[in-house]
Amino acid sequence: MITIAIDGPGGAGKSTIAKLVAKRLDIDYIDTGAMYRAIAYKTVNENIDTNDDKSIRTMLDDTEIDFIGGSIYLDGRCVDKQIRTPEISQMASKVSALGPVREKLVELQRKMGHEKSVIMDGRDIGTNVLTDAAYKFFMTASAEERAQRRYKELIEKGESVTFEQVLSDINQRDKNDMERELNPLRKAEDATEIDTTGLSIEEVADVILKNIVSEK
Ligand code: DC
Repeated sequence: MITIAIDGPGGAGKSTIAKLVAKRLDIDYIDTGAMYRAIAYKTVNENIDTNDDKSIRTMLDDTEIDFIGGSIYLDGRCVDKQIRTPEISQMASKVSALGPVREKLVELQRKMGHEKSVIMDGRDIGTNVLTDAAYKFFMTASAEERAQRRYKELIEKGESVTFEQVLSDINQRDKNDMERELNPLRKAEDATEIDTTGLSIEEVADVILKNIVSEK
């Protein structure tokens, strides 16, 4: 069994890299951000007030989240596309600060992480979800570079956004994710930091793969 944890701020390239490494090592990739996004999507759809603890708990008790063939399923329905909008990004950052949401998802993530070999990415994987992971990485990049990558992605998908909007969203999410009380984004002491600014996807994947191979 091999367990790899990747943490870092939004837009640092975690999921692209994690997918590639998973393929190379023939192990499963678990995108924990997608799980928070799925909860955010349901919260928006059902018009749930995030300050209403009871409604949040009731919704969580009645929610099923799963990965099937690399896609995220919410209550039996694939929501890969629906969760990738700027509105859901902001809501995900908000709901991920709620205790009951983190409790449910972290429990699910630990189960997934201990069943088989995985590479899991998020904000608190190395510090909280899989503290015993054999390999931990913390990926960073400047806010401008991360905003540039996200902007390109959104434009390619046909979303109408400005670079300034995307940068401001990234800064706001960084602040939420780092300053929240419960499991904030931070580097685990035993994680290897990789600054991806100016590096290609292949170059970053190579840094990770070399670390893993050289320790085997
Ligand atoms: O990685 P992402 O942008 O898809 O994550 C969406 C939000 O979920 C992000 O703002 C922070 C939150 N998140 C978290 O709190 N803990 C995780 N392990 C993963 C994501």
